[in-house]
Amino acid sequence: MTYLDNAATTFPKPRTVHDAASTFMQTLGANPGRGGHRLAAGASRMVEATRLALARFVNAGSTPERVVFAHNGTDALNMAIKGLVHAWHRDGRTHVVPHVVTSVLEHNSVSRPLEQLAADGVIALTRVDCDADGYLSPGVVAAAMTPATRLVALTHCSNVLGTVQPIAEIGAKVRERGGDAVFLVDAAQTIGVEPIDVEAAQVDVLAFPGHKALMGYPGTGGLYVAPRVELAPWREGGTGGDSKHPVQPGEYPHRLEGGTHNTIGIASLKAGLGFIAATGLDAIRQHETRLVSRLLDGLAAVPGVTIHGPRTAQRRVATVAFSVKGYASQDVGAILDTSFDIAVRPGLHCAPYCHQAIGTYPDGAVRASLGYFTTDADVDALADAIAQVAAAS
Ligand SMILES: Cc1ncc(COP(=O)(O)O)c(C=O)c1O
Repeated sequence: MTYLDNAATTFPKPRTVHDAASTFMQTLGANPGRGGHRLAAGASRMVEATRLALARFVNAGSTPERVVFAHNGTDALNMAIKGLVHAWHRDGRTHVVPHVVTSVLEHNSVSRPLEQLAADGVIALTRVDCDADGYLSPGVVAAAMTPATRLVALTHCSNVLGTVQPIAEIGAKVRERGGDAVFLVDAAQTIGVEPIDVEAAQVDVLAFPGHKALMGYPGTGGLYVAPRVELAPWREGGTGGDSKHPVQPGEYPHRLEGGTHNTIGIASLKAGLGFIAATGLDAIRQHETRLVSRLLDGLAAVPGVTIHGPRTAQRRVATVAFSVKGYASQDVGAILDTSFDIAVRPGLHCAPYCHQAIGTYPDGAVRASLGYFTTDADVDALADAIAQVAAAS
């Protein structure tokens, strides 16, 4: 099978990831922080080493305790959004309904919690548009902010169009305009392929999955919370120590880490970060940029194919959305799967507002997402298959 659905989760994972997960479970599989014995201490060391590696990876190495583990990108985003709302209510500054700015490019993991909060009257929500190529404008984001804006929640990259957003410029605008407004960035589609520097981009809260380009197992993710941000725990429970405390302890990371860690996942994530360090983020990015360029050229040469979003390999990750004249996207996905052994993702990609913005709602589009293990032959196989499909319409 030619796997071109890496935006959903990367596959395959590096061999070292499986080795690390298996070794951890066979040698140290105790519960970190839940017991003074040596196995628990060893498991804790692995968890803390992963936390530090993640913190350094996004330039938050001076405050590793403010990187907390989550179960996936969605979990991290819910922890961020609901934790903020809860904190606003605790500090009593909700006499003016808090205003939130978001965009049409968001995944449902951002849109749905925000829409529900807006429907419940808890927040007022503004959704800004992207330009014709799928980029957000820092000026448009800033113009949408009001004196009541407490949160700007945006994706670093569209999971449909692959467009990487100018988060440093947006971060500067949010800080300039917003006083204490929090800048939340969803790095699901960039972490592990694009450099992320939370200090330089003035990102207050960064949410990310561990199972995409970070190469960890499904069930992993994380959240960075800057020291200036007050985030209430959304999931409360056991933290191992401090059991006399009637409520969740206030200090990080325990504040946001109720419950047993996904240690096998965290061990895999540590090895994923090791793989990226050994391979080099630049080398990963260059490989994917070269391949996406090849794919864009291959698809552009097929009559009847419409590529959505930019046609160049700059300012994007290796995700391409396209439509084939005469076919519903689901049909193209099914034909590729059953007749060509190629895995892509058709439909709305959990991003309905993006498809509305690019005119592909409600059918959606076909999305091919490449990864570090994708080859030239994989890309050519897709372009050839699409040429055959288009010719048969
Ligand atoms: C932009 C974006 N945000 C959030 C998510 C949710 O991540 P997860 O599937 O790990 O919950 C995804 C998943 O595809 C995504 O692409």
